[in-house]
Amino acid sequence: MSKPDLDPSDFASALAPLGEATTLPARAYTDASIYDREVERLFRGEWLCAARIEQVPEPGDFLSLDLLGDRLVVVRDREGAIRVLSRVCRHRAAELVNGSGNTRSFQCPYHLWTYGLDGRLVGAPHMDAVPGFDPAKCSLPEIRSEIWEGFVFVNLDGRAEPLAPRLAPLGERLAGYRMGELVAEETATFDSPFNWKVLVDNFMEAYHHIATHADTLEPILPAKRSHVTDDEGPYSVLVMPTNETGEAVLPRQSLPGLSDDQQPGLVAVAVFPFHLFAPGPRTMAWYQLLPETVDRFTLRIYDCVPEDMGAEERAQSHELLRVIHGQDIDACEAVMAGLSSGRFERGPLALLEKSIWQFNRWWCERMLPGD
Ligand code: FES
Ligand SMILES: [Fe+2]
Repeated sequence: MSKPDLDPSDFASALAPLGEATTLPARAYTDASIYDREVERLFRGEWLCAARIEQVPEPGDFLSLDLLGDRLVVVRDREGAIRVLSRVCRHRAAELVNGSGNTRSFQCPYHLWTYGLDGRLVGAPHMDAVPGFDPAKCSLPEIRSEIWEGFVFVNLDGRAEPLAPRLAPLGERLAGYRMGELVAEETATFDSPFNWKVLVDNFMEAYHHIATHADTLEPILPAKRSHVTDDEGPYSVLVMPTNETGEAVLPRQSLPGLSDDQQPGLVAVAVFPFHLFAPGPRTMAWYQLLPETVDRFTLRIYDCVPEDMGAEERAQSHELLRVIHGQDIDACEAVMAGLSSGRFERGPLALLEKSIWQFNRWWCERMLPGD
C-alpha cells in the first residue's frame, strides 16, 4: 500500500471558517492511495452500519454481508442477542453460509464442521483423533458491534471509541421519529461508479434541490428553507422544513431545540463516515453504502416503514425513493467526471453546505498526518 501524499497545506482551505471554506481537493475523491487510508482509518477504524435489527427478528435468523472484503454474518443467537461473526470456516476457510435465512447452527459444506449461533465450534468430524486439537480455539471471530435506534453498527478493527455516547445527543434530537420501530424494506440496489464521498456530500445538503430535484423535492422542501444544525458529534443533521405545499405530503415534525419555523418535514442525517438516513413523518430512507474502490461502491436503498402501512402507500414511498435517487445519480456521475478531469482543484462552499464543511473537518482530523 503506497503512502498517500497528504500535505496539510493542501487542506487548509477546507478547514477555514464556514463562509471562507472550500471543498476537499479533487484528489481526495480520485487518489487510490488516499482511499486506502480511508479504508484503514475511516472504514475499518470507525463504525459502519451492517444491518437493521428487524432483518433478523427471531433466534436463528441470519443475514450475510460482505463489507470491505470481510465476509460477515449478522445473526440473532438463542438468547436473542445480535452478534456479527466472520462466516469463514476456521478449518480451511470455506464460506460457511450465504444469503439469509434461519438456522440452528452454521455447518460448513466442505467437511461439516459445525458452529453454534454464538460462533463456538460444536462439531468437527474425525478431529478427535488429532492430538492437541482444541475446539475452543476454533470459534468464529466475533466482530465488535453496537445497536443504535435499530441500526446494527460494526467496528472492524475493534479499536473505535464506543458509539452510543457519541450519538446520544442525536438520539435525543430524533426521538420523535421512533426509528427503532420501523421495518426496513430493500427497494433498490445501485452499482455506483463514483467516489463514496460524492454521494455523502450529495445526501447531506439541500442546495441541489433547486436544480437536481426541481420537479420533485424543491416544490415541497425548498433549498432555501433548509439548515444544518450546529451539533458537534461525528454526524451532520440537515433539517428540511416544508412549505405549505409540502405540509400535505410531509407534515411537520417537532424536533427539540428548533423554533416553529425551523421544524422539519424531513431530516437527512449522515453519521460519518457514511451511514445515511432520512427520517420523515411516516417513513425513513436508509442508504447503505458498500465501498469497493476509490471510484465505485454498491448502494442499497431501504425504505423503513411502519408495520401497519398499506401496500399501496408502501409502493408509492418506494417508488419516490427510486425517482429521487435516479436524479441524484445523474448529479453524482457528473461530479465524478469533473473531479477526474484533472482541471478541477477545489471550489467554494455555500452556507447551505454547512454539513459538507462539518464532514470535511471530521475527515481532515482523521486523515491528515500529525500522529
Ligand atoms: S473448510 Fe470448513 S470444514 Fe473444512
Ligand atoms: Fe438529492
